[in-house]
Amino acid sequence: MCGIIGYIGRRDPLPIILNGLQRLEYRGYDSAGVAVLCKQQIRVERAVGKLSNLAAKLAAHPLCDQLGGELQLGIGHTRWATHGGVTELNAHPHLGSEGLVAVVHNGIVENYAELKHELASEGVRFASETDTEVIAHLLERHLRAGQPFERAALTTLQALRGSNAVVMLNALQPDMLIAGRMGNAGGIAIGLGEGEMFIASDVPGILEHTRRILFLDDGEMAVVRADQVTVLDRNGSLVSRPAHLIPWDPVSAERGEYRHFMQKEIFEQARAITDTLRGRVNFETGAVTLESMAIPAALPRKIHIAACGTSAHAGLIGKFIIEQLAHVPVEVDYASEFRYREPLIGSSDVVLGITQSGETADTLAAMSEGKRRKAAVWAIVNAIGSQAERLADGYIAMRAGPEIGVASTKAFTTSLVDLYLLACALAQVHADHADSDPFTRARSLAQLPGLVSRVLAPNPIYDELADRFHDREHFLYLGRGVNYPIALEGALKLKEISYIHAEGYPAGEMKHGPIALIDERMPVVCIAVRDSVYEKMISQIEQVKSRRGTVIAVATEGDDLIARKADFVIWVPPAPPLLTPILTAIPMQRLAYHFAVRRGCDVDQPRNLAKSVTVE
Ligand code: AGP
Repeated sequence: MCGIIGYIGRRDPLPIILNGLQRLEYRGYDSAGVAVLCKQQIRVERAVGKLSNLAAKLAAHPLCDQLGGELQLGIGHTRWATHGGVTELNAHPHLGSEGLVAVVHNGIVENYAELKHELASEGVRFASETDTEVIAHLLERHLRAGQPFERAALTTLQALRGSNAVVMLNALQPDMLIAGRMGNAGGIAIGLGEGEMFIASDVPGILEHTRRILFLDDGEMAVVRADQVTVLDRNGSLVSRPAHLIPWDPVSAERGEYRHFMQKEIFEQARAITDTLRGRVNFETGAVTLESMAIPAALPRKIHIAACGTSAHAGLIGKFIIEQLAHVPVEVDYASEFRYREPLIGSSDVVLGITQSGETADTLAAMSEGKRRKAAVWAIVNAIGSQAERLADGYIAMRAGPEIGVASTKAFTTSLVDLYLLACALAQVHADHADSDPFTRARSLAQLPGLVSRVLAPNPIYDELADRFHDREHFLYLGRGVNYPIALEGALKLKEISYIHAEGYPAGEMKHGPIALIDERMPVVCIAVRDSVYEKMISQIEQVKSRRGTVIAVATEGDDLIARKADFVIWVPPAPPLLTPILTAIPMQRLAYHFAVRRGCDVDQPRNLAKSVTVE
C-alpha cells in the first residue's frame, strides 16, 4: 500500500524522507513525491515510477536552495494507485488551490465524489483524478473560514468516509505537521526524536532515527511539533497514547549480505523461531506461558480462525495442531469470506486473526465481526503496535522481526510455532483435553531451530530445478493431512513471485479431476514425509509417474523408497508430525525464490502485489 513519511525538526527533511520512503518500497508503489516548506512556501516534486526517478528530478532541480535556521518540515509519499491512473499529476502530495496546504494519504475516501462535486460547485478546480485532492481542498476551505489548523484538520478528517490515513502540512503553520487516521487504512506511526519528530505509515521507514514510536488508533489525530506530540480523538478530546520501544534494530530491517529481503528472511527462520520460543517454554517442565494472552478457565466452544493468503494457510495447519493437541474444535475461513457467511458465533467462541502486518483489512474486519458477536478475539501478529494487536483481547507476537519481502516466509513459520504454543497453552490449562504430556511437546519445540537450520543448509537442487523447469507454465503441488496446506502455500509462493501458474491440492483430490492435467510438461511437487498418510502419497506419486508427470518430492531423510519413485527429492529431517509443516514450508519458499530469480522477476516487490492489503 502507499508509503508515507513526514519530518519536522532542524535537519534537511529531504534525505530523511527519501530514505524513509526507500525503506517502505516493499509496500509496492507506482509513483512518488515530496513537499517541503521553503521560506513559507510549499515546494513540491513528483515522479512516476521508482524513487530513483524522483531523486533524479530533485538533484536536477533542488526544491529549496538553502535551508533557513527555522524549523524544517516535509512530507513524502509512495503511491499505489487506487483512484486515477499512474501519472505525475496523480502522485502525492496534493495541494489546495492556493498552495497553502499539502497532504499525503493512504486509503480510499469512499465519499470523494460527493465531496468533489460540492467543492467544484464552490469553484474549486481539480488538478488530478485522485480522491486525495479533495482532502487538500477541504482543509484549505476550513482554514480560509478562519479555523485554526488543528480544528480545520479534524473537521476535514471527520468529513471523510472510508479508511484513511492522512498527513497534512500547512504553510501558515510552520511549527507543526498533523497526522490523522480514520479507519484501518494502514498505520500512522510517530517516531519521537530529540527536538525532531518523524511520521511514517510503517515502522521500518523511521526506525533508523528512533525506536520510541507511538501509533495512532482508528479515529485519532496527532498534532506533531518538533518537541511534542498531542493526540486527540475524533471529538477533539485529548488522548494519552504511550510510546512503544520497538525492539527491531535498524540493521534487522536491512538486507545485509543477502541479494533480496525474501532470501534474508528465508534464512533467518531458525533465528526467528528461536525468538518466537524465547521465554515462553520451560523446557524442563514443558510449561508454556504466553505473555500477552490469558487462556480462559473455560475452554472455547470453538475457535474460528480468519486470515488471508499465506496466513490463511497457517490457519489451516493450526486446525490440525489445536484439535489434535488440545481437542478444541477449529474452523478456518478466508477472512474475506468470513463475515459474509453469517458465521454461527457466540460468547463462548473465539475468533483468531492471523496476520503478519496486523493491518490486513479483511482480517481486521473478521476480528471486528467477532467482537460484534461477543466472541473473544485473539490474534497471532508480527507487527508491533498494529491494529490487530490492539483490537485483540489477547495476542501472540510472531517475533519474526521486520518482514520486508512481499512473499511471506518467516512470518508463516513463526505463526505456526505460535499456533503450536497456543495449543500447548490450551492443553496445559485443560490437561484432561491433552493427548500428550507437556514435556514431550516442549522437547519437540526445543529441537525445532536445529531442524530448521538443517533444511536451510546449502542445497544445489534448487538451482538445478530452476534451470530445468523455470520455463514451465504450470505446476501442481500435492500434499495430505497436515501438509496439505503446505501444498497450497507452495503454489502461492511460486505464482506470486515467479508468475508461473501453480495450483495446490489435497493429493486425494487428484482422481476427482486434476489428474487430467498431468503430462510430461507438468512438474508435480509432492510433500511426502513419513507420517500417517505417507503410503497414500506414495500411491499418488505412482499415479503421477504413470502419466509421465515429473515428480519433485519433499521427503524424510533416509527414505529409500521415495528415492526410487520420485525424479527429484528434497530431504527434510524427521520431526513430530504436527511440526513437519514448519520444515516442509522451507523447500516451498526456496523453490519459489530460485525460480523467480532464474526468471528475472522482482522478488521483493512482485508485480500487482503489496505487502499489506489494507483495502477490502
Ligand atoms: C503471502 O506471501 C502474501 N504476501 C499474502 O498472501 C499475505 O500472506 C496476505 O496478504 C496476508 O497478509 P497478513 O499476514 O499481513 O495479514
